[in-house]
Amino acid sequence: MEFQDVVRRRKMVRNYSTEPVDPDIVDLALRNATRAPNAGFSQGWAFLLLDTPEDVARFWDVTADDAAHPDTWLAGMMKAPVVILPCSSKAAYLRRYAEGDKGWTDQDEARWPKPFWDMDTAMAALLMLQTATDHGLGSCFIGIPPVREDAVRAAFAIPDDFDPVGVVTIGHAAETVGAAGSSTKRPRKPMDGLVHRGRW
Ligand SMILES: Cc1cc2nc3c(=O)[nH]c(=O)nc-3n(C[C@H](O)[C@H](O)[C@H](O)COP(=O)(O)O)c2cc1C
Repeated sequence: MEFQDVVRRRKMVRNYSTEPVDPDIVDLALRNATRAPNAGFSQGWAFLLLDTPEDVARFWDVTADDAAHPDTWLAGMMKAPVVILPCSSKAAYLRRYAEGDKGWTDQDEARWPKPFWDMDTAMAALLMLQTATDHGLGSCFIGIPPVREDAVRAAFAIPDDFDPVGVVTIGHAAETVGAAGSSTKRPRKPMDGLVHRGRW
């Protein structure tokens, strides 16, 4: 698929068929994720892959209010055979930037203009979404409700120095759309109001 087609066709898919996903595409999505730009080549990320029905069901059990009685959104999302949690490690960045070529030996968090660990991991997530689109699969990115994060950590033994930045679901899109996303209810903003040329 042409790159521009990948960009334009990628839409969050919130209803999946139960058709299995080719594991080679999942592997490619993960490998592509590690090609994302990342500050200092810190690579302070890791990816929790859930690709068995048991693990995927456990994920929804610990994150959803009532996985036994799902609404339209949850019922559609729960059918995705693959769930990936991209995780970022602030500690890895602080350590990396304390190395000789960077020299931030005080590991002072105030030095960081933005949380590069989360930014880089989010860029990795986008590459997974785009890889899915490129191979005719559907995907979606969602956050983890803060009140559920501890339960997710406990269920899947996520270490303290890694934070899940969200969730990527991957699967074959169902024939029906399922729950409508925000982009169906809100217009895309025109470029004129977004791009400020030379001066804001
Ligand atoms: C950080 C982030 C969090 C999101 N959280 C949710 C979510 O909780 N539920 C959901 O259905 N979609 C979620 N989305 C998807 C957005 O609604 C979607 O990207 C946006 O409406 C644009 O539509 P598109 O990606 O299909 O083009 C999230 C997207 C991002 C980037």
